[in-house]
Amino acid sequence: MPTLTVHAWPLRVAVGGLLGLTTLLAYAAPADTTEQVVNAEQSPKPPAKQKREPLVIPKVDRDKVICFCLYTVHHKILKLSAQLYPLLEGEARTLSLEVEREGGWEKLQTKEIHPVGWMTTFRIENWDDTRSWNYRVSHPGGAKYTGIIRKNPLDKDVIVVGNLSCNSNTDRGPRTDIIANLKHQDPDLLFFAGDQSYDHKQHYAAWLLFGRQFGEIIKDRPTVTIPDDHDVGHPNLWGAAGKQSFRSDGADGGYFMPVEYVNEVQQAQTSHLPDPFDPTPVLRGISVYYTSLNVGGIDFAIIEDRKWKSGPLGIVPKMGPRPDHINDPKFDRQSINVPEAELLGERQLKFLRQWGQNWDGVTFKTVLSQSPFANAAHLHGAENNRLIADLDSNGWPQHGRDAALREFRRCFALHLCGDQHLATVIHHGVNDWEDAGISFASPSIWNLYGRWWHPLDPAFPGGYRNPALPFSGRYLDGLGNKITMMAYANPAPDNHKATGYGLVRFNKKSREITLECWPRFVDVTKPEAKQYTGWPLTVSQFDNYGRKPIATLPQIVSESPDPVVQIIDEQNGEIVYTVRIKGTTFTPKVFRAGSYTVRVDGRETKNVQSIPGE
Ligand SMILES: [Fe+2]
Repeated sequence: MPTLTVHAWPLRVAVGGLLGLTTLLAYAAPADTTEQVVNAEQSPKPPAKQKREPLVIPKVDRDKVICFCLYTVHHKILKLSAQLYPLLEGEARTLSLEVEREGGWEKLQTKEIHPVGWMTTFRIENWDDTRSWNYRVSHPGGAKYTGIIRKNPLDKDVIVVGNLSCNSNTDRGPRTDIIANLKHQDPDLLFFAGDQSYDHKQHYAAWLLFGRQFGEIIKDRPTVTIPDDHDVGHPNLWGAAGKQSFRSDGADGGYFMPVEYVNEVQQAQTSHLPDPFDPTPVLRGISVYYTSLNVGGIDFAIIEDRKWKSGPLGIVPKMGPRPDHINDPKFDRQSINVPEAELLGERQLKFLRQWGQNWDGVTFKTVLSQSPFANAAHLHGAENNRLIADLDSNGWPQHGRDAALREFRRCFALHLCGDQHLATVIHHGVNDWEDAGISFASPSIWNLYGRWWHPLDPAFPGGYRNPALPFSGRYLDGLGNKITMMAYANPAPDNHKATGYGLVRFNKKSREITLECWPRFVDVTKPEAKQYTGWPLTVSQFDNYGRKPIATLPQIVSESPDPVVQIIDEQNGEIVYTVRIKGTTFTPKVFRAGSYTVRVDGRETKNVQSIPGE
């Protein structure tokens, strides 16, 4: 007999519950940003200075010319980039990759070093990822760099991901606290979401500095680095499919930095990623890198949320001090939701749709990109600079934001990102609150430009309220997008402008995701170490398609556990969603009455009729 269970899938959170309306209104008082103060005892060694020191490429001994290495292993293909300091005339222009086998070093590949960018990338097929390997990159001049290619952690129940972004150059010192903490927390994957460099015309030197700062944790685990606006020398970036920008703010769309510079940055930061889904360059030969990476059963889509995005200038009327900043409170939010404005672009939407259907060896789907799909900040740069809307955010164009979120939820994907220098956990809504997925924007590693979440209006009733934070709950962002703020970490006097990093734990057994947010200069090995107020949060994988159903399909009972279930609407042939269920039974929810095709581990049943809901 069909089971007739129809209800919204509840959001499960580790902390809190609903606050009453009275409490909600009381919290609408002016912000007390000291709410976010980090225990001062947790901050033993902040850097003394905030002044930008000159960026220099240090002279290194010739046996130290290899600065750092980055790698990924995906579907048994190893890609490893080695980054060198400048070579001298007469020095060899080759590098070799070796692995340790039975006590000796076996050479796998020798590659030419690119004359531009002083790097090379090894690509080795049929990589044995069932065990870890010691690797060594060596230069004929005597330099050697060693690390560990980890085995694919398929046997681990919990996969841990470090979520980092925005490494400001007002402190060029080492990142000792983050290194020590991440060594202890031992993530299976590191994700740097962008702005690894803020030195707009010196990416190569800044990239070497990034390598000196983080190489020690990068060398022994797979790492994703993707460039954001500052990496390619822009204050903001609306890539507009690679066209030429003619303005120093980039607001007319495209890149004003030379194509060679942009491609060199992308080569340095992304050539160790799995091969691109479709390597066809965009305009003027600017390369692309969007792809996917499976680590331990967590399948990451790596996308470029700036590359196709339209610039606002000329598309929407200027309603503030800059083409991208709107501070007219009367502006019509829909007036800028113009159809010609792109966000992810057709190519990446197509990729996401295809990626979301492939669940071979996959337990969780997660999207990695630069920025959250919302305009989730009110104060920009200073506490007296309130903006209504920021078109640099991925909240604009709204239809592009909705299209992206619809693809994410189609496979119950979490979204990890950075960019904002304001850590947030947001449950997104397209048509209704929480009907799409959850995003976690990391705090900045070091912050030169603070942003604050500080709404003046009270939250709308309903939805999750974080008991530790005054401004959580349901809001419209500056562009009218529905967002439920679950946690945020505002800059405050004692938290070094809200700096830190995120950590994400995917539990493959429980299908829960725990989001942690760690301030700088905390020793996580100490029992008194505290995360930012409002964290940690634990959510279910299934919260990432939080839409309320209007009907269900008959319960699926599977012989084998955790099959992949795909629901296709027969009215229009559209895939409603694909997910690896937990256990052997599952009652699919649907959002329209009608007939559906149901696939369970590829076995197809057509003409399955929906059962009306509540
Ligand atoms: Fe940034």
